[in-house]
Amino acid sequence: MAAVPPVRRRRRLIVAIAATLVLLSPIGYLWFASLVPPTFSPLAMGTVDYGGGPGAGRRSMGGMAGMHGHGAGVSVETLIADPQRKADVVVDLTTADATLDIGGKNVPGFTVNGTSPGPTITATVGQLVEVHLHNASVREGVTLHWHGVDVPNAMDGVAGVTQDAVRVGESFTYRFVADQVGTYWYHSHQLSHRQVIGGLFGALVVQPKEPATPGGVEVVATAHTYAGIKTLNGKPGDLRVPARPGQRVRVRVTNTDNGPINIWAGGPYRLLATDGHDVHEPGEIAEKKITVTAGGRLDLGVTMPADGSAVRVQVSRGTAVVLGAGDAPPAPEPTVELDLLTYGTPAPIGFDPQRATRTFEYSIGHRPGFVRGVPGLWWSINGHLFPKVPMYVVREGDIVTMHIDNHSGEVHPMHLHGHHVVVIARNGVAATGSPWITDSLNVRDKETYDIAFVADNPGIWMDHCHNLEHAADGMIAHLMYEGVTSPYAIGKGTPNHPE
Ligand code: C2O
Ligand code: CU
Repeated sequence: MAAVPPVRRRRRLIVAIAATLVLLSPIGYLWFASLVPPTFSPLAMGTVDYGGGPGAGRRSMGGMAGMHGHGAGVSVETLIADPQRKADVVVDLTTADATLDIGGKNVPGFTVNGTSPGPTITATVGQLVEVHLHNASVREGVTLHWHGVDVPNAMDGVAGVTQDAVRVGESFTYRFVADQVGTYWYHSHQLSHRQVIGGLFGALVVQPKEPATPGGVEVVATAHTYAGIKTLNGKPGDLRVPARPGQRVRVRVTNTDNGPINIWAGGPYRLLATDGHDVHEPGEIAEKKITVTAGGRLDLGVTMPADGSAVRVQVSRGTAVVLGAGDAPPAPEPTVELDLLTYGTPAPIGFDPQRATRTFEYSIGHRPGFVRGVPGLWWSINGHLFPKVPMYVVREGDIVTMHIDNHSGEVHPMHLHGHHVVVIARNGVAATGSPWITDSLNVRDKETYDIAFVADNPGIWMDHCHNLEHAADGMIAHLMYEGVTSPYAIGKGTPNHPE
C-alpha cells in the first residue's frame, strides 16, 4: 500500500467524520438527548402533565416552587408521621450481603436479620410502626419501601426521591401509621431489580382490631423465585400448615417476582382481599384460578372439609400451601380464570370518578431509540422514552382518573406508590363486582384499564412497572403534588439508583 502523507490522511479523516455526522445527526441528536446528567433531581425528569387541571398551559416546572428543596415548596422530608407520637411496634432490621441456602443450593443474595425473606412485621390497624434499618454489609446501599402501604412520602423508601440510599454502617428510621388492614410487603428500592430478586424483602401484615379469622388459622405465603428455584417463604416445595376440620384458614399470598403467577385451591375457596382491601361479599370459587400480579397480594379463604382431608392451595405450579394433616389430593390447574371485574358485589367507594378533576393517560409501548445513550428497543410511556416520561401533576383533593393502554407486546404490573386505585373498567367494560381496589395491576398486552383514585397523600410518588427489569430500563413515571420538592438526586454521580 502506498503511503499517504500525514496531512492528507488527517483531511480524509475529518471529511469522513463530518460525513458520518451529517448522516447520523438525527440519530446523534436522539442519542445525545437520551443522556442524563450524572446528578439530577427526580423532579427534572419528564414531560409535565397537568391532566387538564390547574397549571395546564404552563410550559415547565420552572414556574413552580423550587426544584431542589429551596423556594416556597414543601420538601418531601417534612411529610412524616406525627413525631410526637410514640411507636406501638418497634422493629430492628439489619440488611446484609449473603449467600442464601435455597433448598440446599447456594444462591448469592441478601438477607434481612439473617434470613430471606426477612421477618414478617405484624401490626394492628392504627398502630404506629417504627422500623430501624441498619445496613450491615450491602455494598451498593439499601432502602425499605412499604409496598402497598400509603405511608407519608418521606417514609416511602425510594432512593434519590424520598431519601438517600443507606450505605454500609448507616441507619435510617421509618415511621408510619398502619392505617389499613391487609397483606403488604417491604423491599429495597435501591437497585431493586437486583436486591428484590436477591431476596431483600419481607412481609408486613396489618391485622384488624378484631381478629380477621376468629378461631381460625392464618398463614403468610410469600412466593419468590431464587435463581430459578420457586419458593414459599424462602423454601421450595410444600408449605405445611396444621388446620382442623371445619376451621377457617386465611392464606396471604404475595408475589415478589417480576411476572404474574396463578393461584388456585384443590377445593372451594374465596378471594377475601386484593392488595390489602377486603372484597365485598366474596362468593365461593370452584375450578378457577386467580392471577397474582407481580408485587400484588391476594388473601384466600378456605374452610377445612369436615371429613378431615387436607387441602392444597397451589401457588403457581411449583409450590403449594398444604392445609391440614395427611396427603392432600393433587389440584390440577383450572383453565378458567376468576375475573375480578365481576367478582363480589358492589359497595360505595367514597368518591365519584365521574367528577374527576384530572385525567391522565399512561400508554405503554415498545420502540427503538436511546435510553441513557444505549440504543435498543425500549418501553415507552405516552410515546416517550426515559427520562422524558410523564410527570403527572396533581393537587391534594383532586379526583384522578387514568387510562392505561398497553400495546407493547408484554404484560406490565403497574404499581402506583402511596395510593390505592379503584378499577373502573377494563377494555371499556365497566366493573360490576366488588370495588376492585389495587396498588399492583396486571395490564396485559392489548388491554386497557380505567382506574381512579383520590389524591390524598401529598408527595412525589413513583408510578412504575413492577417487572423491576422493565423499571430499570426506564419504565418509571411519577405522580407529583404541586409544590412538593425533593432535596435528593439520582444518577451516576449519586449513591441513588432506585431501580
Ligand atoms: Cu414494590 Cu416502587 O415498588
Ligand atoms: Cu413492564
